[in-house]
Amino acid sequence: MKRVTLIPGDGIGPEIVNATLKVLDAIEVDIDWEVVNAGRKAYEEEGNPLPEDVIESIRRNKVALKGPLETPIGSGYRSVNVTLRRIFDLYAIIRPAKYIPGLPTRYTDIDLILIREGIEGLYVGAECSLDPYKHHSISIRYMSRDNCKRLISFAFRYAIAHNRKKITLAHKANILKETCGMLREEFLKEARKQDRILAEDMLIDSVVAELISRPSKFDVIVTSNMFGDILSGVIAGLIGTVGILPSANIGNEYAIFETAHGTAPDIAGKGIANPSAMILASAMLLEHIGLTEKANIIREAVKEVIKEGKYVTLDIASKLGTTPVSTSKMAERIAEIARQKLEES
Ligand code: NAI
Repeated sequence: MKRVTLIPGDGIGPEIVNATLKVLDAIEVDIDWEVVNAGRKAYEEEGNPLPEDVIESIRRNKVALKGPLETPIGSGYRSVNVTLRRIFDLYAIIRPAKYIPGLPTRYTDIDLILIREGIEGLYVGAECSLDPYKHHSISIRYMSRDNCKRLISFAFRYAIAHNRKKITLAHKANILKETCGMLREEFLKEARKQDRILAEDMLIDSVVAELISRPSKFDVIVTSNMFGDILSGVIAGLIGTVGILPSANIGNEYAIFETAHGTAPDIAGKGIANPSAMILASAMLLEHIGLTEKANIIREAVKEVIKEGKYVTLDIASKLGTTPVSTSKMAERIAEIARQKLEES
């Protein structure tokens, strides 16, 4: 039986993780979960938001499913999410976003994959104040050629393996000539070697404008860390709710699967969070460990429940003008449909 690290997370984390386990149980996924705590809970109980047992568990198991973790704003401990990506060298963050029929959105033809750099850029946390009064501060945007090269190579391989037709690099190499310039150079070098996929590079501001006015123009987008974070928010808005956007942090040896959204403190503890992003993240995990058929069953079940529109949480029900159900009710319906699909298969 495959052993996988499970981090319930903060805020809505435990609610959506429990909901996800219901779905995985329903389709008899054979995983031995090793549960460890990180984030706010671990910080309050152990004085450390990333205890050693979490790191050891992921090192042993190589794969983890993680609920969202809180990062204090302005001061306090550093982001556990960012630290985990750095420790396990998770240099590519994959976020697949697709229109789901039945969910009211501005566009119905969105089907794209965002590949965001995961360990460098502005996220290295190299910041300081230049004077004792904190009137002048700097942030360093560090990028290395080796990492740009492997990110770009990964993005092309991923796009081709998933039968994608086009890959777009989103950058700002007219202003950030060294960092974005280096990423663009590596992109153009790789593009020249490929004839199986169309490659284009675009300034980040044009990418945002095009995404909002004509998202079907995009297929796979690859970009740096902070630009990817912002694009991910735009994409979440375009597909209707951040509650359906999963995320995979991938390295050569390790992988951590999570949601693109955070701990949603405004709705935590109310049992109303959409569990779909976490459930879809678990499908990405299953695919990663070779359980592709079960991964597809989960994806189809989520799609069907949203299309049906009767057992959906507030974020979707408010768009449909229907009565919302709880996180666990939506998960139960997804589990029920997934189980039926498994029996039919
Ligand atoms: P957020 O994504 O938690 O929430 C933004 C908005 O989306 C809120 O209105 C929230 O209610 C809604 N939302 C998020 N997930 C939802 C779901 N599943 N169903 C329905 N509505 C949902 O972003 P925010 O508020 O900026 O961040 C809160 C905390 O989460 C911060 O501490 C931040 O650092 C952390 N965070 C953690 C991430 C991770 O662990 N990968 C990713 C992003 C943020």
